[in-house]
Amino acid sequence: MEIILITGGAGYIGSHIALELLKSKFNVFVIDNLSNSSTNSLNAVEKLTGKKISFEEGDIRNQDFLDQFFKIHSIDCVIHCAGLKAVAESIQKPYEYYENNIIGSLNLIKAMKNYSVKKLIFSSSATVYDENEKMPLFETSAIGQGQNPYARTKIMIDKILQDEVMSSSNWSIIVLRYFNPVGNDPSCLLGEDPKGIPNNLMPLINQAAFNTRKLTVFGADYDTPDGSAIRDYFHVSDLAIGHVNSVQKILQDKNDLKIFNLGLGQGISVLQLINIYQDINDIKFDYSIGDRRLGDLPICYAENKLAKQELGWQPIFTHHDMCK
Ligand code: NAD
Ligand code: WQD
Repeated sequence: MEIILITGGAGYIGSHIALELLKSKFNVFVIDNLSNSSTNSLNAVEKLTGKKISFEEGDIRNQDFLDQFFKIHSIDCVIHCAGLKAVAESIQKPYEYYENNIIGSLNLIKAMKNYSVKKLIFSSSATVYDENEKMPLFETSAIGQGQNPYARTKIMIDKILQDEVMSSSNWSIIVLRYFNPVGNDPSCLLGEDPKGIPNNLMPLINQAAFNTRKLTVFGADYDTPDGSAIRDYFHVSDLAIGHVNSVQKILQDKNDLKIFNLGLGQGISVLQLINIYQDINDIKFDYSIGDRRLGDLPICYAENKLAKQELGWQPIFTHHDMCK
């Protein structure tokens, strides 16, 4: 069976992808520098599947490491998840974001070219779309200037990949634009375990529920039914299955770049998500209403028809499943 390399595979999304790939009988190799993860996630995946993950600790900013890796290992397809992802931190440390995300991606592309591995699936984000676009967002919606350094890294990598494919060098590339992945594998052995203070809503809700941090709802004065902002939350296992479908497609594709939105295709509000979480887990916690967060959109959700049609992707998990 084909060997799939996941960069950043020990992280939240990468470890869920590793699990679903192993369940679908692919072999999995992971490269990660463990800057925002640990090998516990990989151990959990091995425990759940009874299968082995090949792991090498290493940094995609290190070209020699990548060249050496591809020289030794025969890889059929790369899923590129490695990178930094915290919006606020990217404003404080832009250089680190450009270095990790852009240089790291360029190094990876170079090593792949050197060793003729030309199948790549990239973790992109809804954050690339222009903030003035109408909802839902289509793959053809306009790309923005990027609201912050993190967003700009994703926009730049998108463009680099498009230019590589245009250079007609036999690339097959799938760019997946994730909306708001949340939740964890139903086994509860895997999950989102960021180092430091989380940025995203769901880990903050979890910490509020376990009383380790206070939750503030960023704005309840938007033009939405309950005043709080609306997002397209979808289950990380559905996201991971979307990658398995993408691997199956890319192994047959030649010389192409395809872009797919991955999201539920519907939005719910921050307050709705908090209420579902409290109901399904039969738990109550306090939260306060604060100011809007700078740069936040009132409403953001995907049109996901293309992924359904071309990848055969069908998200199955509900908002209740995401919160359980
Ligand atoms: P994560 O931080 O849990 O995983 C990223 C992994 O990459 C971590 O294990 C980290 O240690 C590793 N890493 C970082 N820099 C590295 C480097 N230079 N070399 C090797 N490994 C490195 O984040 P995640 O939520 O799993 O996100 C995975 C990808 O998906 C990221 O590219 C992110 O931008 C993208 N994405 C995430 C979301 C989200 O809401 N979580 C949404 C859209 C896109
Ligand atoms: C969701 C909603 C917040 C924290 C970000 C990135 C985006 C993508 C996904 C990677 C918003 C509200 C949050 C809190 C709150 N990541 N919120 N209190 O902003 O849709 O997107 O993550 O690519 O690039 O920008 O997700 O989880 O940060 O916020 O009220 O303490 O929760 O205002 O409405 P977002 P999020």
